[in-house]
Amino acid sequence: MRIFLDTANINEIRQAAKLGIISGVTTNPSLVAKENRCDLRDVIREITSIINGPISAEVLSSDPRGMIEEAQQISSWSPNVVVKIPISAAGLEAISALCLRGIKTNMTLCFSLNQAILGALAGATYVSPFVGRLDDIGHDGMALIAEMVKVFRQYGFPSQVIAASIRHPLHCVAAARAGAHIATVPYRVLMQMIDHPLTERGISLFAADWQRIARG
Ligand code: E4P
Repeated sequence: MRIFLDTANINEIRQAAKLGIISGVTTNPSLVAKENRCDLRDVIREITSIINGPISAEVLSSDPRGMIEEAQQISSWSPNVVVKIPISAAGLEAISALCLRGIKTNMTLCFSLNQAILGALAGATYVSPFVGRLDDIGHDGMALIAEMVKVFRQYGFPSQVIAASIRHPLHCVAAARAGAHIATVPYRVLMQMIDHPLTERGISLFAADWQRIARG
């Protein structure tokens, strides 16, 4: 499973990039707004200068024509940009048209297996089920990931499954077990994935033992 960072915060992206484990970044309008940035192109260009991998940027239009025009603009910013399009009839129409033009897409706001199948049939490069938001309303977000992975494999759909709306480290473990191609994680969760109390205790113990012997 590959790890993407789910943020529009440049500092977080810079810090995480140093670890050498981040393969891409996903943003959405809320994440960009949270950074008080209103020029999406500047944000995405900055991200592409840090991470050499797929960077998702979302369209705001709601009609197919507007989505396609916006997607063409967005994809001209960098060869690494992936256009995020919410699932809807308009979204599917746009994804199909963009697929024919060779523009990579990430079908977002996916909450059901039916939506996921339609996205794959339309030719979405990535399909993003939001596990945390499903859990929030008492559904089993991770079950959707497992079903998608199984069905995509069964029919040879090339779309990759991005486990999105990840809220805690257990979501990452479950996404890996379920066979998600990618988990897109907030910076806070990435840091939690690194930590383990026994590692910290072990490092302190090694240092203390070494100090004792070094002091003679
Ligand atoms: C994914 O592409 C989305 O940007 C993101 O995971 C949404 O997460 P949220 O439900 O925490 O807003």
